Formats: sequence, structure tokens, C-alpha cells
Amino acid sequence: MATPSDTTRRGFLARMAGLGAVLATPRALLGERPHPLQARLPTRPIPGTDETLPIVGLGSSKPVLEIPSEGTDPVAAVIRMLLEHGGRVVDTSPRTPEIDAEFGRVLAAQEFRDRLFVATKINTEGEAAGMAQMRQNQRLVGGRTLDLLQVESMRDLDVHWPNVLRWRDSGEARYIGVTVSSNGRHDAFEAVMRSEPLDFVQVNYSVMEPGAEDRLLPLAQDLGMAVLINRPFMNGSYFGRVSGRTLPAWASEFDCATWAQFSLKYILAHPAVTCVLTETTNPEHMADNVGAGFGRLPDDATKRRMRELVRD
Ligand SMILES: NC(=O)c1ccc[n+]([C@@H]2O[C@H](COP(=O)([O-])OP(=O)(O)OC[C@H]3O[C@@H](n4cnc5c(N)ncnc54)[C@H](OP(=O)(O)O)[C@@H]3O)[C@@H](O)[C@H]2O)c1
Repeated sequence: MATPSDTTRRGFLARMAGLGAVLATPRALLGERPHPLQARLPTRPIPGTDETLPIVGLGSSKPVLEIPSEGTDPVAAVIRMLLEHGGRVVDTSPRTPEIDAEFGRVLAAQEFRDRLFVATKINTEGEAAGMAQMRQNQRLVGGRTLDLLQVESMRDLDVHWPNVLRWRDSGEARYIGVTVSSNGRHDAFEAVMRSEPLDFVQVNYSVMEPGAEDRLLPLAQDLGMAVLINRPFMNGSYFGRVSGRTLPAWASEFDCATWAQFSLKYILAHPAVTCVLTETTNPEHMADNVGAGFGRLPDDATKRRMRELVRD
């Protein structure tokens, strides 16, 4: 469980309390270098290793897919914001070679290179196409060892998996895993977890979509697998559900200041979770999401109350 020191927590919470004012003047967030005493995100261990990861990361799909229309500044800005708060996990998938070439230039920039944990994927059918995506992933990270290679949504898993295992053995990928993003596929995912030597699983889980806590998350703990969480906001539809509603006063009991933090703290309260991936194109939203990593987390009774609140 994240238990940052009280001093660290208070420092960050004081800054987050000022977020409303800061949002009105984004240059205050975007233009300044980090304060040397700035609070750093808590970390959790990758089971079975001496490596840790910060507990909030970036799901990069939207800002990366928007590179052709928006350029690379937005994705660089959200990564910069994450890094400034001590984050370093960036999740991505193979895109067009043109988009990945641009994104690769961002990742290679002096300010980011060697500072990120980049989780990549294979999300195609057929062995040859999977091998081509592996090479594209390697180009994306400038030819260095992949931090984490995942087979996305178990797509053609039987075909890709022998190669993925081989790439871990040969040191081309440090960690390997499989992802799922819909509750209807959790049974099939559980079977893969039970049969394959996964380092990481990536699972959909949130206050509105809590199904993974029944079996997948406890199983990951039992099997010693690290857990990344996707769809913390159900790709944004969560905000439609809570829009116009006032955050309940009791949210302050677990240091929650915004609806985004409400879902993220629900997720982070589960001890199996290593890091939650939040997708955003907006550095202010990234700062908001990072804020969920600080302070107290809800207990089980509070989590039940949270589920009931968003269901109504
Ligand atoms: N099968 C798979 O492997 C799989 C499937 C789905 C997702 N994923 C991974 O998981 C990541 C995240 O999941 P997701 O795609 O479902 O996205 P998500 O994080 O659940 O939701 C993203 C949406 O929330 C908005 N948002 C983010 N932070 C906010 C904040 N603080 N306040 C208000 N709005 C906020 C974003 O809009 P703004 O841009 O305006 O902030 C965006 O519309 C993906 O990027 C990907 O890396 C993997």
C-alpha cells in the first residue's frame, strides 16, 4: 500500500489544493522547472525483483495517435509532467511507422531518454507481422532493450508467445506480459495467467468496472505478477457519469480532491496494483492524476460506498 511520509504527502496535497488556481494559469505548471523539494510519486515493487515503479503512469494512445494532427508537443508535455512528479511508466502500442518514428524522436530526446519505463505491445495476427512489430518496438526505443513487451488483448497469443518468451530469454525484453481490457475476456485471461510465466499483466479495473478484483487481482498477487491497470476512466465515459455531480465530502477522508482521483484512488487501494495507466493529452490532467498517488487510500468499506455512489 502506498504510504508516503506525512511530510511528503502534506507537501503534495498543499500543492494539489492550489491546483484549481494553477489550472487557470497553466504556464505555472508548464513553464517552470520542478522545485528541488517537489514530492515524488510513491513506488511499488515489481514482484520477485529489486526494481520498483511509480504508481501512476501514462497510457499514451490518444496523444500518440494525435501526432499527425497535433504534432509531438502534447505528448512531450504530458510525459514531462509525469517525470517532474517522479513518474516514469509510459504504455504504448505499435502505430503507423510514421507515427512511431515521430514518437520515437520524443522518447529519444535528452530530457526523456533512459528515464522512462516504456511498455510496448504486439497487437497483430501472424508470426511475421508480430516479428515486424517487435522490430518496430525496438526502433521506437532507439534499439535498447525493451522494458516490457506485452501481447495486447491476447491477440494471436499462441502464435506470438513462443517468440515473446525467446525475446525475454535473449535479453531483448526485460519483462513480458499479456493485456486484457474487457470483463468478458477475464476468464480466458485467467487461464493464460495460470498457464504462462508472465512477469506483468495489464487489466481493466476501476470504480465503475471493478470485476478484476474478484479473481484476477488476487491471482496476480498469488502468482507474483506485476499489475498495470488500463481504462481507469473507462476511456473517458466515467467523466460523463459523474459530470455535474459534487464530490462527496467524505472523499476528503482519503485525501481525494477530484473525480479523477476518486477512481484512481479506488484502483490504487488494491494491493495487487503496481501502476495505473492514465491516458491524457492534457498536462493539467496528468498532474491531477499524479495527485491520486499521494495521501491516504480508501479502505474496503469506503470502496463499497464509492462503488454504490457511481452506480446510482
Ligand atoms: N487492450 C489493451 O491493452 C488496452 C486497452 C485499453 C487501454 N489500454 C491502455 O490503457 C491506457 C488508458 O486506458 P483508456 O484508453 O481506457 O483511457 P482512460 O485513462 O480510462 O481515459 C482516458 C480519457 O480520460 C480523460 N482524462 C484523463 N485524465 C483526466 C482528468 N484528470 N480529468 C478529466 N479527464 C481526464 C482523457 O481526456 P483528456 O485527454 O482530455 O485528458 C481521455 O478522454 C491506454 O492509453 C492504453 O495505454 C490498453
